[in-house]
Amino acid sequence: MDSFEFNKIAGAFLFSILLLMGVRELTSVMFSPEAANPASYPVEVADSGAPAGGDAGPVADEGPSLATLLASADIGKGEKVAKKCAACHTFDEGGANKVGPNLYGVVGRPVAQAAGFNFSGALQGLGGEWTFDRLDGYLEKPRDYAPGNTMSFAGLRKPNDRANIIAYLNAQGSNVPLPAAE
Ligand code: HEC
Repeated sequence: MDSFEFNKIAGAFLFSILLLMGVRELTSVMFSPEAANPASYPVEVADSGAPAGGDAGPVADEGPSLATLLASADIGKGEKVAKKCAACHTFDEGGANKVGPNLYGVVGRPVAQAAGFNFSGALQGLGGEWTFDRLDGYLEKPRDYAPGNTMSFAGLRKPNDRANIIAYLNAQGSNVPLPAAE
């Protein structure tokens, strides 16, 4: 081979080495600055519980607001959730009080005012009326929301279940306008 061809091959060889090194360097910078240097100290930035990245806003909340969930709530699914309540509650107009009071029109109704039901002092002490927000709080953990109240129901952990059943309750004689979703 003549020297020109040798130079071409050597050049190509050198070039590919350079390329390899460059790619290595680049990927280590792009993907894992810490893994590339295992001896480096741990970076204690995202340990505060807040999501990493500064653009999350001042309040790192757990999910969509109740208003947002209500805007897309599913009354049919709420009716299914209501099966968990049916041992103790009726939902129809003029329905009987069972272990718990009849819930027809409960959204917007004064708290602890169902006709003919003997409410606990704890629930009577709340005052005011059942808003979407208050129902959301009560149904999440009845025991904590009104300590001493007699609804022995653990609560609905999933925000979506609560939004769906609140939409269902609202459709049973209340029809209070939904809060504006943000
Ligand atoms: C084991 C029986 C039981 C179950 C299950 C139950 N509740 Fe109750 N609920 C009660 C009782 C009892 C009260 C009255 C509490 C008091 O007076 O302290 C009550 C009260 C309420 C009230 C307040 C009514 C008012 O007029 O102020 C609401 C709203 C309510 N329940 C909704 C629900 C929903 C929704 C479910 C299902 C997700 C449910 N409950 C499941 C027994 C039950």
